[in-house]
Order: sequence, then C-alpha cells, then structure tokens
Amino acid sequence: MVDNKNNRETFSSGLAVFFATLGSAVGLGNIWKFPYMVGENGGGAFVLTYFICVLLVGIPVAVSEFYIGRSTRKNAVGAFDVLKAKPFWKSIGYMGVLSALFIMFFYSSVAGWVFSYVFKAIKGDFLSLASLSMEEAAVNVSSQFDIAVGGSVSPFVWQITAVAIVSIIILAGVKKGIERITKTLLPLLFILIIICCIRALTLEGARQGLSFLFRPDFSKLSASAVLSALGLAFFKLSLGMGTMITYGSYFTEKDNLFATSARVALSDSIVSLLAGTAIFPVVFTFGMEPGAGPGLLFKTIPLVFSKIPFGNLLLIAFFILTSIAATTAMLSLVEVPVAFFIEEKGMSRNKAVILTSALILIIGLLTVHPKSVFGNVVIAGKGFFDLFDYLSSNIMLPIGGLLISIFVGYVTNKDHLSKELSNNGTLNNKGMIKFFINVLRYLTPALLVIVFLNSIGIINF
Ligand code: PHE
Repeated sequence: MVDNKNNRETFSSGLAVFFATLGSAVGLGNIWKFPYMVGENGGGAFVLTYFICVLLVGIPVAVSEFYIGRSTRKNAVGAFDVLKAKPFWKSIGYMGVLSALFIMFFYSSVAGWVFSYVFKAIKGDFLSLASLSMEEAAVNVSSQFDIAVGGSVSPFVWQITAVAIVSIIILAGVKKGIERITKTLLPLLFILIIICCIRALTLEGARQGLSFLFRPDFSKLSASAVLSALGLAFFKLSLGMGTMITYGSYFTEKDNLFATSARVALSDSIVSLLAGTAIFPVVFTFGMEPGAGPGLLFKTIPLVFSKIPFGNLLLIAFFILTSIAATTAMLSLVEVPVAFFIEEKGMSRNKAVILTSALILIIGLLTVHPKSVFGNVVIAGKGFFDLFDYLSSNIMLPIGGLLISIFVGYVTNKDHLSKELSNNGTLNNKGMIKFFINVLRYLTPALLVIVFLNSIGIINF
C-alpha cells in the first residue's frame, strides 16, 4: 500500500534509537513527577496501577506510534496523509502539537527550578544542612524551595534559560543534537540515582519509605488516582501526542519495534522506581509529608546528600544530570511542533524553532508562575500550572492514545502493519503481531474508556 521511505535522516544504530527514545521518556516525569504523584495518591497501590497501565496501554500504544512513524517517515500530522487515512485522523497530530505545547508551558518552568538548583548547590546553599538537626534541616530545605520558586524574577529567568538551551540544541538538527547527548549522559544519571538510593536506604525511615512505595493499600486508591496513573503512564513514556510517531520516523529499518518499546518501558520504569526509592526514605526519616506536591524532589534530595562525604559535589552532579534528562525530554517535546511547522507549514527549521519557543515562553511565562500576570487565575479549582498538566496528561494524551489504538487496531491496512512490525518479514514474530493486534483492538481501548468513565463518575468501581 504505502511506501514512502524517503531519504530522511535516521538515527545511526539500534542502540542510538534506544537511547534517544529513552532520552525522551526519562526526564522530570521520572525524577520529579512520579515520586510526588505516588506521594499524593497513597503509595504502592498507585504504583501498581501505574505499571498495569504501562503494560496494557503504554507498550501497545508505543508500538503503534513507532509503526505510524517509521512506516511513513513523517511527523504526527503528515503521517496520516501518507497512510491515506481520512482527514479526521490527523486530529491526533494536531492535538499532539497542542499537548506538546501545553506540557512545555509547565515542564520548562520545572526544568528552570532544576537549573536553578544546580547553581544553588554550587553556591553552597545546602552546606549548612550538615550542622542542623533533622527538623531544622527539613524546614530549611522547604523554605529554600519556596523562596527559589516563589520569586518574582528568578523563576522567569530560569524558565527562559531552559527554553533557550533547548532551542539552541534543536537548531543543530536531530542527529547531532539529540543522539550525542543522550548516549553519554543517561548512564551517568542512572549511576547517580543508584548512589542516592544506597544512601537513602541507610536512613532510619528506609523501611517505612519502601513499604509506602511498594506495599499496595487499595483503600487509598480513588477513581481520580486511577486516571492520574493512566495519564502518568502516557506522560512518562511520551505517548499519545505524536512524540513517538516523530521519533519512530527516525528509526532504522532494522529496529525491532516491539523490543524497543519493551526495553524503553522497562528502563524508564526502573528509573522511576529508583527515584522513589531515593526519595521516600527521606520523607519518612525527616517527618515530611509524602503528599507535599511538586516540591517533593527539591525538598528531599538535598537532605539525602547532606551528611555524607562529598555530599555537595554529588548534589551538584545530581541536579546537573537531572537538568540534562529534563533537556533531552524537552527536545523531544519541542520536536513535535517544530517538525509540524517545517513539514506541514513549510517553515524553515530556524523559523519553526523560534516560533515554537516564543509560544512556549509567552504563554508559559504569563501563566504558570504564581507571581505571573495570570498566576492567580483559578479555573475549575486549578491554577494554570495544574490545569495544563491535568488537561495534557489526563485528557489529551489518553484521548490521543485511544485514537491511535483504534486507528492501528481497526483502520490501518493489516498487511502493511504486519510487514512493518516484522521488518518486512525478516523477524519471525507472527504470533506476537497477532497478539498485539488483539490487545490493541480490545484490551487497550476498553481500559482507556473504563478509566475515563470511572473517573467522571459514570461507572463506579
Ligand atoms: N516523558 C517525559 C518525562 O517523563 C515527558 C514527555 C512527555 C516528553 C511527552 C515528551 C512527550 O519527563
């Protein structure tokens, strides 16, 4: 049916594909969002629900997106033209462009917090923690966070810095920009998080922290928490909005799409769990609130390193590597509107990048900070920061995922799909493909619909 293997840039090898994709998936979602959402939603039961969502919804949607991207070598809107789909399906791509922008409004702000923490750590703002009592130290990091993000100038400057850095890297192009950074630095981040975990596990509250994270108590799980777990699975794996369609379009012909999805999901989950393992022992040791919200990471990590040799150096390294993880994730977010503006609107790469970053900055700066022009506006009980997060993760990405699974499960040509998933018959995976199509037709959409209806109260579990 369709053959549009034009000479687009691709990643240079299977390993580069894995790392680039992981570079998109691993980011603030693992290190910042996953722990604080687990904390807010009662711990282990939320974690388990999250993993079920990754397995039954995340991986099938990831494979579908890779298929759409690699078989068309196009962005998330153009891909549907190449597949000769009805114009309706392009709405997945349009909604994806919008979701990417929505996410960037607040993501770039949090990335700014992380950047600012690199400098705080370098300046020695956390050195005094070593000589304080536990209670004093906990109060100190909390107030440092409130001051850092509550200012009326510096959070804005840091957010602009974050967006500027991403724009410069992305102007250098896909291969040079994304590939080089992810391949070298992700493994380092991984090692550093493991060091954090080892240290955290020596703390008094380690047992309590681990049981909060791993022991499910389903009485704590609300319907809205189930929707949040689903939304988090999409957000974490960068799904439902065309990022993985766009990335899939850079994959090589030899990549096994199933294996790549599974490997990425597994590695990403490990990083999230390690982040949780580093953070919750601190929460319980220092008598903090697990449900402290978006500040949780910033209020705990300085404490992890506060009383160990080279603690401050490790803290600096931690925030540098987290900044890098946030940056690679932002690269993949920004790439969605950029590829769209270039390929669908005929813009030059420079123009597309400038337009995208201008949009992110204008709306992001005006809305997401409490001290910004529209910072105090509350819509449906949420400020803009939470609203952009809620709308993108809990509504738009899951709807995108539902449409993608219906499109690949029911609409697309099955021979074309099988050919692509078996790399033109070179992989011996007929059974796997069949199983995948069944999951995608029945299980994935059913789960998505049930979670939705459950969360808005139409059905009740
Ligand atoms: N997955 C990224 C993270 O966890 C965020 C992201 C979402 C990136 C959607 C791209 C698309 O930080």
